[in-house]
Amino acid sequence: MSYFVSVENLPLADLNQLLERASYFKNNGRSPKFNQPIYVANLFFENSTRTHCSFEMAERKLGLTVIPFDPAASSVKKGESLYDTLLSLNSIGVQLAVIRHPENNYYQSLIDLNANQQLDLGIINAGDGSGQHPSQSLLDMLTIKEQFGHFAGLKIAIIGDLTNSRVARSNMQLLQRLGAQIYFSGPKYWYDAAEFGQYGNYLPLDQLVDQMDVVMLLRVQHERHQSETDFDASTYHQMYGLTKERYQQMKDNAIIMHPGPINRGVELDSDLVEAPKSRFAEQMRNGVFIRMAMLEAVINGRKLGGI
Ligand code: CP
Repeated sequence: MSYFVSVENLPLADLNQLLERASYFKNNGRSPKFNQPIYVANLFFENSTRTHCSFEMAERKLGLTVIPFDPAASSVKKGESLYDTLLSLNSIGVQLAVIRHPENNYYQSLIDLNANQQLDLGIINAGDGSGQHPSQSLLDMLTIKEQFGHFAGLKIAIIGDLTNSRVARSNMQLLQRLGAQIYFSGPKYWYDAAEFGQYGNYLPLDQLVDQMDVVMLLRVQHERHQSETDFDASTYHQMYGLTKERYQQMKDNAIIMHPGPINRGVELDSDLVEAPKSRFAEQMRNGVFIRMAMLEAVINGRKLGGI
C-alpha cells in the first residue's frame, strides 16, 4: 500500500508536483472524483486542532468517507496496540489511516507490515514525536512559495524549541535541499550543534532579525520538557521572542511563520499574530489544500518519504 510519512527523502520533483496540485485546489476550487468510495480514519494519539481538522476538511472536500476514531474512547484504552487497532480498522474496510503518534518513526513498522501483507492500508504521518511533520512542512513550503516564488537563496531563521520540534526537522531537511540559507536561534540548550549544525548556523536573534526573509517561530513544547522549574514566559519573550521592536527591524517583504498553536506573548507578541507580515492564518488555510494533494497522492498509490 502507499504512504506519505516523511519529507527527508522526498524527491523535489514530487514536492513541486504536490505544491502545484495544492495551488490548483486552492485557486480552482475543484476536487477530483474517485470512482469508488474510499474510507479513511484519522488516529490522533496526541492532541491536535489544525492537523486533525484540516485533514478531515481535506478528506471531506475529496469526497472520502471519514470513519470517526477517538483513541480516548477506543479499545486502545484497554491496551490494544497500534498494529491491532489498524488491523481491526483495515479488516472492517478502512483503506487509509492518517496517524499522529508520540513515538518517533512509528510508521516504519507499519510500512513493513504492509510489505508483509499483514496490512493493506495507506498511511499518512500527521506527526511522529519529535521526528517528522510532513503535512506542516509542505504547507509551510506552499506559504513561502506564494510569498517569494522561489526558495533558493532565501534567508530563513528557525527559532525556539528546536530539539523537540518535528516541524524544525522536516523544514530544515526540505529547505536545505531547496537551496535556502538556514539559521537557528533561541535558547542554546535547545540547539544541538551536532544535529542542527549540518543545516545552518546558530546566531543570537538580534543579529538575525533584520536579515531574514522568513522568521519561523516554534512553539515552546512544555508537554515534552522533563522539568521546567526555571521557565519564565516574559524572560523567554524578551530574549528569544519576536517583540514589537524586533518586528520593526524586519525587512519590508519578510514574513513571520508559526506552525501553531501559538503561546501568545511568548514566541511572539500577541499583537503580531495578525500583523501584516504574519502568515499564520494563511499557513492554516494552505494546510487544507496541501493535505488534499497528499491524500490524493497516497490514494493514487504513491509511496513518499519511506526509508
Ligand atoms: N501545527 C500543528 O501541528 O498544530 P496541531 O497540533 O494543532 O495539529
